[in-house]
Amino acid sequence: MKQGVAMSNGTTALHSAAACLGLNPGDRIIMPAFTIISCALAAIYNGCIPLLVDCDPEPWCMDVEQVKILVEKETKNGSNPVRAIMPVHIYGHPVDMDSIRDLADEYDRVIIEDAAEAHGAEYL
Ligand SMILES: Cc1ncc(COP(=O)(O)O)c(C=O)c1O
Repeated sequence: MKQGVAMSNGTTALHSAAACLGLNPGDRIIMPAFTIISCALAAIYNGCIPLLVDCDPEPWCMDVEQVKILVEKETKNGSNPVRAIMPVHIYGHPVDMDSIRDLADEYDRVIIEDAAEAHGAEYL
């Protein structure tokens, strides 16, 4: 990223990032089932609902196929749509960000990327 904002800790950063997006109460944020509680709290503190997807056993990060299925299902459903996707780079292993970005672009969803475990990492 070219720019950054200093925060007191990672939990506050996620909370603030979600707050800046103008999400509505009841909006859903997709996130991995295997991560720190801070991710779910960022959703809950903003009145949103965490929607958990399983992780891919190889990189231990969110399974992008499951994210796709959930976004499509919730979009069809309509009443409480998925507004955001929160990829988390577990233990420095990168999420397949190309696929996540494509999905977010296609369905006009926002990404809250949690890189708390990936300082200094590069995604090429
Ligand atoms: C993936 C992830 N997100 C968020 C956090 C929260 O960071 P903090 O403990 O600084 O609030 C952590 C902390 O370990 C983390 O591993």
